[in-house]
Formats: sequence, structure tokens, C-alpha cells
Amino acid sequence: MPTLETDRLILRSFRKRDVDAMAQLFANPDFMRFSLGVFTQRKQTVVFIEKVMGWDRAGIPSQFAVIPRGKDTIIGYCGFFYHPEHGIEDIEIGYRLNPDYWNRGLITEAARTVRDHGFRDRNLSRVISLIHPENLPSRRVAEKNGMKVERKITFRGFPTLVFAVTREQWLATRGVG
Ligand SMILES: CC(C)(COP(=O)(O)OP(=O)(O)OC[C@H]1O[C@@H](n2cnc3c(N)ncnc32)[C@H](O)[C@@H]1OP(=O)(O)O)[C@@H](O)C(=O)NCCC(=O)NCCS
Repeated sequence: MPTLETDRLILRSFRKRDVDAMAQLFANPDFMRFSLGVFTQRKQTVVFIEKVMGWDRAGIPSQFAVIPRGKDTIIGYCGFFYHPEHGIEDIEIGYRLNPDYWNRGLITEAARTVRDHGFRDRNLSRVISLIHPENLPSRRVAEKNGMKVERKITFRGFPTLVFAVTREQWLATRGVG
């Protein structure tokens, strides 16, 4: 995976030595809002890191560690997820951020860069984000990422809005947001 840069962030591939930093985040209930719950065992973080490193090795779009420029601290993740086991063929852009950094526009910045990377460098035809209807900050990020609600599904037992943007829509609005 390439390293991506935004005004305020570095987005880089995950490494094995990120387990401790990520385990701390995954144990935080705010970081894990609208998920199946906090990780209580280090092994769960190891599984996450090995999964995304596997995608990197396979050369397919993966997750990025989100790091503020000039720092050495991971404050979240933003990147691509796959859900074929749930009958979803589209690639998702998913994200979580350390609550100390919320509402500064950081994940919007990261998600736009990830989206642009997907369409520009990975030739994706469409990307989605799967969001609980009550998750207003995430819905706002998806909107600011140029996505629109397409339909409502049940995902992992929860009501879920499918936000989507196609390559054509992205091309038509390039330079706008
Ligand atoms: C979702 C999340 C990643 C957003 O990160 P962030 O860097 O704070 O997002 P941004 O600052 O780029 O944008 C957040 C937007 O939501 C808005 N917002 C925040 N709280 C809100 C609320 N309670 N109601 C409505 N809008 C809200 C902010 O005002 C901002 O919109 P604006 O730029 O129009 O003002 C972060 O809240 C998070 O990690 N949440 C827990 C994990 C999660 O829910 N992940 C997504 C799963 S689908």
C-alpha cells in the first residue's frame, strides 16, 4: 500500500508493532461506538492487524493507520473493508478515530483521500459506507465524502444505511469537495 498524505495526516499501512497502540483504541468504548463492542483480548487486535496486513500483501485496497503529521501516534484507522460473508460485494470505506481528536474534520480529510485513492489508483467503480442511522457524525462524514444514502439494510443484526458514491459521480464532482 502506498502512504497517503493529507494536510494534517499521514495514512500508512499497518505493521505488526502497531498492536499495542491499536489494542488501546479498540478497548475504548467511544472509539468502538456503533460496533459489536470493545475488544477485551489482545488477540482480537492481532486478528485485525493480520487481516489488514494480509490485504496489503495481496495487493488489494486495505486499511490505513491514521497518524497526525509530525507525530508517531496512531489516532485511528481509515480505509477499505470487505463483507462478502454478509452478501455485500461492494468495498466499504470504514473509519474510527480516538475521541480526543473528534470534530476537527480529520476523518473527513482521511476518508476523502482514501476515496480518491480508491477511484484514482485502484480503479474502483463504487464505494460504500455502512452506517447505523443514529450515528450522526459518521453520516455527516459520509455526506462530506460525496456519498448519498442508497438503501437501508440489516447488517450484523443492526439497521444500517448504505451510503454510496460511484466513480462517475466522483468524476463529475472532482475538485468540488
Ligand atoms: C465517526 C468519526 C470517525 C468521525 O470522525 P471526526 O474526525 O470527528 O469527523 P469530522 O470532524 O470529519 O466530521 C464529523 C461531523 O459530524 C458532525 N457531528 C458531530 N457530532 C454530531 C452530532 N451529535 N449530531 C450531528 N452532527 C454531528 C460534526 O459537526 C462534523 O460535521 P461538520 O463538519 O458539518 O460540522 C468519529 O466520530 C468516531 O470515531 N466515532 C466512533 C466510531 C464510529 O462511529 N465509526 C464509524 C462507524 S460507521
